[in-house]
Amino acid sequence: MDARASRYQEVYARACRDPEGFWAEAAREIDWYESAKKVFDPNAGVYGRWFVGASCNTCFNAIDRHVQRGRGKQPALIYDSPMTGTKTTFTYEQLLDEVKTLAAILQDFGVVKGDRVILYMPAVPEALFGMLACARIGAIHSVVFGGFAPKELATRLNDCKPKLILSASCGLEPGRVVKYKPLLDDAINLAKEKPQAVLILQRPQETAELSQGRDHDWGALRAAAIKAKKSADCVPVAATDPLYILYTSGTTGIPKGVVRDNGGHLVALKWSMKNFYDIDPGEVWWSGSDVGWVVGHSYIVYAPLFHGCTTVLYEGKPVGTPDAGAFWRVCAEHKVAALFTAPTAFRAIKKEDPKGTLIKNYDLSKFRTLFLAGERADPPTVEWAEQVLKVPVIDHWWQTETGWCIAGNPVGLGALPVKHGSATVAMPGYEIDIVDDACKKLPRGTIGSIVVKLPLPPACLPTLWQQDGRMRESYLDEFPGYYKTADAGYIDDDGYIYVMSRTDDIINVAGHRLSTGGMEEVLAGHHDVAECAVLGIKDDLKGEVPCGFIVLKAGVNRPPSEIEAEIVALVREKVGPVASFKLAITVARLPKTRSGKILRGTIKKIADGDAWTMPATIDDPAILDEIKGALKGKGVGA
Ligand code: COA
Ligand code: AMP
Repeated sequence: MDARASRYQEVYARACRDPEGFWAEAAREIDWYESAKKVFDPNAGVYGRWFVGASCNTCFNAIDRHVQRGRGKQPALIYDSPMTGTKTTFTYEQLLDEVKTLAAILQDFGVVKGDRVILYMPAVPEALFGMLACARIGAIHSVVFGGFAPKELATRLNDCKPKLILSASCGLEPGRVVKYKPLLDDAINLAKEKPQAVLILQRPQETAELSQGRDHDWGALRAAAIKAKKSADCVPVAATDPLYILYTSGTTGIPKGVVRDNGGHLVALKWSMKNFYDIDPGEVWWSGSDVGWVVGHSYIVYAPLFHGCTTVLYEGKPVGTPDAGAFWRVCAEHKVAALFTAPTAFRAIKKEDPKGTLIKNYDLSKFRTLFLAGERADPPTVEWAEQVLKVPVIDHWWQTETGWCIAGNPVGLGALPVKHGSATVAMPGYEIDIVDDACKKLPRGTIGSIVVKLPLPPACLPTLWQQDGRMRESYLDEFPGYYKTADAGYIDDDGYIYVMSRTDDIINVAGHRLSTGGMEEVLAGHHDVAECAVLGIKDDLKGEVPCGFIVLKAGVNRPPSEIEAEIVALVREKVGPVASFKLAITVARLPKTRSGKILRGTIKKIADGDAWTMPATIDDPAILDEIKGALKGKGVGA
């Protein structure tokens, strides 16, 4: 990897010099009904809009055009589910048939362009069919991750007001069938905005009882639609129309509805497959994520299909389904060229099979590159993966908001030398600065807020769903002229970017983004809790896990352990199992500054066993010893 051999510098400079020319050229890879009147219009939208005046269809670019140009018999989707012992392949032709049929069913329910459809689905092919069917008819999908609780689903129902919900009878977790129907019913009962209808995919592992009138059997509808030869054509939409809304944790319990548009998303994601990931059409690509997360949206579903690849959908875990060789089996069996997953998956594999012994059982000769994202790739995990896999391991940094990589090592343009701990360099379209609180640029090597110069490149969020004001407040107001990433880090002398931590209350648990503020709202809602604080503490497997401190109301006489168990159950009920909230600790008081701010940073350092100094502004230093003792009592901290 020689920096001089890479085309990166030249390509990045061109994108900075002439962004419109750069993206107009990339847009030639996309099939448009009408091309853009303005590649970028600075006066449209909150900070400008890409491909204004163009019309297109995302589903056409993902499926139809490949069938029309000879890829009909090529596998488009391989579903590999160790949870059910199933492996199924869909060619592009078969995928097209499934999506056309489902899109016609959606139309029968009155779903038209601009209507919202929520998907609450496990990792099954029908989840992809659902997303693509919405795209086909111009409906806006919003996928909600299956590990979220009914209350979270209800919040999303109220915000995007879907006409329809697509769901299944169950999800499958190791040793546990997660019945979706009761969760769905609870969510709909809690929500003010009710869907007109719910389509339930009955899985063999669980048959859901359908509510009369509202619920429909997906399989029966599909059979009837096929018999009646129903099929929906692609509906042209404006490039600037929303393709989907994906909710992500905000700084309060109310999630942010990140909007993705059709045109910019098509262009940037298609560009990324060759230029960043170095994948060719026809190759097999696997993103080991879930369709409920942005990585799943962009790189299980959309980008590989835009590029004419075969995408793998895996319903299983990196370990325990059945063992720590599961990822190598999938790579070998399906001849995967590149895998994209979160570092936590590799920490899980490393823990079970530290020497990588199981790798030797599989032929990985087709496997070229491992891509990691979703959380900071810790150097020991990257080094381990490099040693056992003997392929380049590429960290890259992005967010739900951006939809694709902000900084990374562009293998397709020629990989740059890897520096462990760094996500490498800014991608074309992203001009990154490190600034202080007054928005003053900081020198190289100095840690500060990471910001991106406006405008953001195509595919990044144009706004939050029906909340332009919140978009400005959350991302644009604090650092004028910039998008605030809410990540902190620094840039070194070679221009390498190091993303170190969040600047807000977001924590990253096993690659899942969660708000500690949202969890605090749940803790504060318990009748015995007077005060609370939730923070993320180090975890060898998940990177971070939440830890909740509670101060009980005066006069509460029950044993703290009983209340702590209730708190753990309450977070599981209100936020969902995905929060991995297992640690609640009762303390007499919380350490605060004299102005009453809880010293979360210091508590975290104590819990993580990191060096810490007594904050000068602390109200009562003795409280930190109490915290240390309480943590020790739970086996946490040095
Ligand atoms: N539906 C219902 N429950 C779910 C779920 C889903 N779709 N996904 C996870 N859960 C549950 C899990 O069963 C677990 O429940 P438990 O507390 O009863 O054990 C809980 O939510 C936490 O899940 P998770 O954090 O995923 O932990 P895990 O122990 O099941 O697995 C890893 C840990 C590291 C193996 C797993 O997180 C992983 O493979 N992560 C890497 C890939 C990834 O998903 N990245 C995300 C974005 S790129
Ligand atoms: P999400 O929106 O769920 O994709 O989470 C985005 C957040 O995850 C970012 O703001 C970062 O805090 C973190 N993140 C994602 N990828 C990386 C990475 N490669 N390095 C460091 N942090 C990352």
